[in-house]
Amino acid sequence: MLSIVKTMALHGLNGFLVDVEVDVSAGMPSWDIVGLPDTSIKEAKERVRTAIRNSGYELFSRKIVINLAPADIKKEGSIFDLPMAIGILKSLEVVHEKSLENILMIGELSLDGKLNPINGALPICIEAKKMGIKTIIMPKPNAKEASIISEIEILGVNSLNEVVQYLNNNIKISNNHITWEECLKNGVKYNLDFSDVKGQENVKRAIEVAAAGGHNCLLIGSPGSGKTMIAKRIPSILPDLSFEEALEITKIHSIAGTLKENIPIIINRPFRSPHHTISGTSLVGGGRIPRPGEISLAHYGVLFLDELPEFNQHTLEVLRGPLEDGNITISRVNSSLTYPCNFMFVASMNPCPCGYYGSPEKECTCTPQAISKYMGKISGPLLDRIDIQIEVSPVKYEKLGNETNIETSAKIKERVNRARNIQRQRYSTEKIYSNSTLTPKLIEKYCQLDTESKKLLEVAFNKLGLSARAYGRILKVARTIADLDASEQIKKTHIAEAVQYRSLDKKYWKN
Ligand SMILES: Nc1ncnc2c1ncn2[C@@H]1O[C@H](COP(=O)(O)OP(=O)(O)O)[C@@H](O)[C@H]1O
Ligand SMILES: [Mg+2]
Ligand SMILES: [Zn+2]
Repeated sequence: MLSIVKTMALHGLNGFLVDVEVDVSAGMPSWDIVGLPDTSIKEAKERVRTAIRNSGYELFSRKIVINLAPADIKKEGSIFDLPMAIGILKSLEVVHEKSLENILMIGELSLDGKLNPINGALPICIEAKKMGIKTIIMPKPNAKEASIISEIEILGVNSLNEVVQYLNNNIKISNNHITWEECLKNGVKYNLDFSDVKGQENVKRAIEVAAAGGHNCLLIGSPGSGKTMIAKRIPSILPDLSFEEALEITKIHSIAGTLKENIPIIINRPFRSPHHTISGTSLVGGGRIPRPGEISLAHYGVLFLDELPEFNQHTLEVLRGPLEDGNITISRVNSSLTYPCNFMFVASMNPCPCGYYGSPEKECTCTPQAISKYMGKISGPLLDRIDIQIEVSPVKYEKLGNETNIETSAKIKERVNRARNIQRQRYSTEKIYSNSTLTPKLIEKYCQLDTESKKLLEVAFNKLGLSARAYGRILKVARTIADLDASEQIKKTHIAEAVQYRSLDKKYWKN
């Protein structure tokens, strides 16, 4: 008897419906699977066969043919175990009550018939809902992450047997949903706070602007000046996530398998700080079963590269495209897939090999050639993609002890949130969320300058000899500064501040 069970294959964040067609007939005992890559078939067969037997069902000697259709969709992983097992049990008429027409199933089987969690449950649910599927059956731990998706029945199960009992109307499985507000309430507080950082008002202001508009920034300063300390506190002032942003982030982490079981949806912006020994593949994504890289795991959050010149130069070069495009396409033998990677890029570096070039406290011992070679590790095109450059000077000893009553991250975050909400409203029809992602066309539309500001910008340009790309970046940053000021018009003071954040080009890179 032929039976069909619906399941889904993921390609990047896109889902494709797959029909598991199972035919069981009398005849020479055999077992064929068509439509899966060779390497997975053997393992799948063993798991499904043993799981069925250990769940108390006898296969006897039957001829079993399973086809995963359509054949031309790439299918990877072990999430087809459950639909294959149910297909077989349906053909054997062990499963006989419910129609499987509107039910989708995903899950890996262990040999004892229990279900193991899989990667990608959330994007599968989102895609299934779009396709009009009414019910999804999945491993219980995954149901938690999927429970944020409403208007689709999500049933978490522990074992193959439980699915059989449910499909035969012997048991009910509750369908749990959780709201966005409930998720936010259960959020974890970030434990590093800007009130720990003494002095550094200018640096904190620059970071506030960067967070408000999602701008890339580079911290330059001598060792011990506080660069790492400051960067690690950026998450504490990042604007709250919207539900749509949270879903997109969670989808990526769901595929990467980096979700924690008790957190159904990611409610804080990611902060990823890979070590400088990271490979290009781990940074941008890839591998045999292509996983999202650090840049995609940092989507709508921060990618922090501490000690930027320590990173492999080739690794840094591959960052350029994604930084500009907000997505990354990973090429494979027969196909390619795209993951989003719209992150705020934060980097730190010393101003020279010894670390003390331009420092008031210690003399630099580097030759001009050595400095120039060191700074040259950060190429012009990469530098061009950094909106805000910040010089960090060490705080004087007296200040370190004395300062009290420092502004908390919560206070800064309030301003950042206000500025970001203005952006969200302004761009509600533009498919972007923040000033950092304004395209040249949108810059023209939303960053109009009056004559006075235009003149100031022209003077600054000639004086600093800035590139055309820097021009757009200054306008975007000025837009953010105006938004922090709740000013619809970009004013001269906003331009003046934005230009300041570009002025290190000339000092360190002589361009
Ligand atoms: N402005 C500051 N306020 C309080 N502590 C500071 C400040 N700047 C530096 N420190 C202290 O110095 C340590 C070293 O700073 P760090 O961030 O590692 O410097 P860098 O990354 O620039 O080399 C910090 O962990 C912190 O204890
Ligand atoms: Mg450091
Ligand atoms: Zn030096």
